[in-house]
Amino acid sequence: MKVLGISCGRKMSNTEILVKEALMGAKETGAEVVFIRLQELNLKPCTGCNACVIDLLEKSGSGKCVLKDDFEFLDEQLLACDGLILGAPIYEKTAPGQLKILNDRLGPSHDMAFKLIAKQTRAAKNVTTGKGPDPRSFMPKAASLIAVGGSEWDTLALPMMHLSVLSMQYEVVDKMLVNWVALPGVVALYDQWLERARNSGVHLVETLKKPLTEATYIGDKGVCPICHSKLFEINNVDKVNPAICGICGVKGTLTVQGDSVSFTVTEEQRALSHVNLSGKFHHAKELKEISLVPHPDMNLLPEKMGKYKAFIEPLRP
Ligand SMILES: Cc1cc2nc3c(=O)[nH]c(=O)nc-3n(C[C@H](O)[C@H](O)[C@H](O)COP(=O)(O)O)c2cc1C
Repeated sequence: MKVLGISCGRKMSNTEILVKEALMGAKETGAEVVFIRLQELNLKPCTGCNACVIDLLEKSGSGKCVLKDDFEFLDEQLLACDGLILGAPIYEKTAPGQLKILNDRLGPSHDMAFKLIAKQTRAAKNVTTGKGPDPRSFMPKAASLIAVGGSEWDTLALPMMHLSVLSMQYEVVDKMLVNWVALPGVVALYDQWLERARNSGVHLVETLKKPLTEATYIGDKGVCPICHSKLFEINNVDKVNPAICGICGVKGTLTVQGDSVSFTVTEEQRALSHVNLSGKFHHAKELKEISLVPHPDMNLLPEKMGKYKAFIEPLRP
């Protein structure tokens, strides 16, 4: 069993120390461990070319990204691992931009429903040319998330980190939030945080020793019964399910009783949660039936676009 630790923080600073502590816990529980410092990698932002999605959905291919940088190296490490410990410092209430870049690169191209559709179509049509999705993509995987901030401005940090592993169908078994740690490396002086991180690594490996159906979650329970989110969007236009989980997108109702808030979700809505494979397949079906259907006036598009092309040129440095 292999566990990959990724730190998005400064070299040998708070996030890295906590990720390494978690990796030590994973190692003492029997895992082989490897570590990546995200800041050392050259990752270009997704350009939106959609080559990955076209490859998966139209050619039953591997969905490989066409950009040339360190993504292929990182992807190989992700494919080779069973467990992931993802640590990030909090920047502007969320994770650093480099993780968002990685999140976009791991989004549609690594969507489990898209990959399964490619695999199934390939088998059904007996496609033997090129490569289909890497079989390691379909192995059960679990992740532990660690966010570290210098204050309590943290609302979007763990949600954004969870989104980074959502498309790949990782089972998130722990989320750990450390506040009020800002000076470089100072977390090494806080034994309670070190122990908490080590336990996270131990729990990750113990989880991976069993079927993922038996996985338990040891982080803050949060409010969403599916993904433990505490972040919600309120859409008062929807009178039946006005609350939307900010991570898994499940819709339901929020109720405040005394000092406690509860989120109720029907079984029908639960199936549509983006962390569930059924929800991912629903999303793929919606794309196919709604936004990817050619518009009846498609032939008018070049003429309509001409106006915007001719209007203004972008400023360049
Ligand atoms: C650009 C920038 C923005 C930051 N924004 C926040 C913030 O919104 N909330 C917070 O709690 N800490 C914030 N911090 C503090 C870092 O999260 C904190 O110093 C953390 O320990 C850094 O992790 P590292 O030592 O692993 O790099 C910010 C730091 C930087 C550099």
